[in-house]
Amino acid sequence: MKKILIVNGPNLNMLGTREPEVYGKTTLKDIENEIKSAAEKNGVEVDFFQSNHEGDIVDKICASKNVFDAIIINPAAYTHTSVAIRDAIAAVEIPTIEVHISNVYSREDFRHTSLIAPVCKGQIAGLGVKGYILALEYFAR
Ligand code: DQA
Repeated sequence: MKKILIVNGPNLNMLGTREPEVYGKTTLKDIENEIKSAAEKNGVEVDFFQSNHEGDIVDKICASKNVFDAIIINPAAYTHTSVAIRDAIAAVEIPTIEVHISNVYSREDFRHTSLIAPVCKGQIAGLGVKGYILALEYFAR
């Protein structure tokens, strides 16, 4: 069975109460539960990791080599700043999809650049929680 790691970056632990007009009222736990049922339906195994710390995310990605077949990552604010997370994804050579709940391209200019997307298979932005599910379905087939 394919193993998929779902990584969520800084402040996504605050989903539910964090800027609900931008991110909705769904909590991270709710998202994980939705992903779990999609994983069962699609016959894949999922594991979840959330951290507010860049180095911890780098450590988790590096430790994923030969453990996970795919990564779905919402790097949150680190999307726009982290060469270290980008290099970790490039280093492990695990196919990765970048997901954003909001449409980063309709927001502030500093959100229009992703340092992560160029080392990913693709990017899904603006489709809310559905973005994680679509990424999972992509890797499941
Ligand atoms: C986000 C978009 C980022 O710009 C922001 O820093 C986040 C969340 C999203 O899911 O829409 O924390 O990644």
